[in-house]
Amino acid sequence: MIYGERIRLRAPEREDIPRFAAWLNDPDVRNNLMLYLPLSLADEQRWFDNMLQLPADEHPFVIEIRRGDDWGAIGNCSFNRIDWRVRSAEVGIFIGEKQLWNQGYGTETMRLLLRHGFNTLNLNRIFLRVYETNPGGIRAYEKVGFVHEGRLRQAEYQDGQAIDILIMSVLRSEWAG
Ligand SMILES: CC(C)(COP(=O)(O)OP(=O)(O)OC[C@H]1O[C@@H](n2cnc3c(N)ncnc32)[C@H](O)[C@@H]1OP(=O)(O)O)[C@@H](O)C(=O)NCCC(=O)NCCS
Repeated sequence: MIYGERIRLRAPEREDIPRFAAWLNDPDVRNNLMLYLPLSLADEQRWFDNMLQLPADEHPFVIEIRRGDDWGAIGNCSFNRIDWRVRSAEVGIFIGEKQLWNQGYGTETMRLLLRHGFNTLNLNRIFLRVYETNPGGIRAYEKVGFVHEGRLRQAEYQDGQAIDILIMSVLRSEWAG
């Protein structure tokens, strides 16, 4: 487990698959995630099996919050495309329980991912891609120190419109810890 103040990150289990599929079939969640088709349980099962073949440091974490005496899953996050020579990696996140958006969980998760990335994985650069149409995400990333770095113009197509993808990053030298 990786513990934060209100959240913890754990490894995904096969039993999580129906929950992941339900989250990712919600158009509000899926809309900002480069996913646009309904997902079946078989799709998600295949994703899980492929995920297990990835290097362990690229396995996703399940984000959990306290529910009474227990913990409950609210979303996923991960490091992708870790380049050990450059010491750079991309991060991704979604909070699948959308009634919990705008309560600081995304911000806290990103803070934990940065700590893990810099203090445990010894990365030098952590970046992400976010749609320009996702102000909540952009705000959460800015709050933990992600810097606007670039813009891929009209690199995505969403709801009948070409939209830009923003690249944001944090360098170890500017990370507040
Ligand atoms: C993006 C996401 C991870 C953010 O998580 P979250 O827990 O909602 O984020 P937080 O509550 O920590 O921070 C959101 C911030 O954006 C602000 N915000 C939300 N909607 C906003 C809007 N329309 N305009 C401006 N700011 C907005 C919130 O007020 C909050 O800022 P504050 O704490 O200063 O008030 C979550 O909304 C999510 O999973 N969305 C669906 C999937 C997704 O977009 N994933 C990311 C792809 S890059």
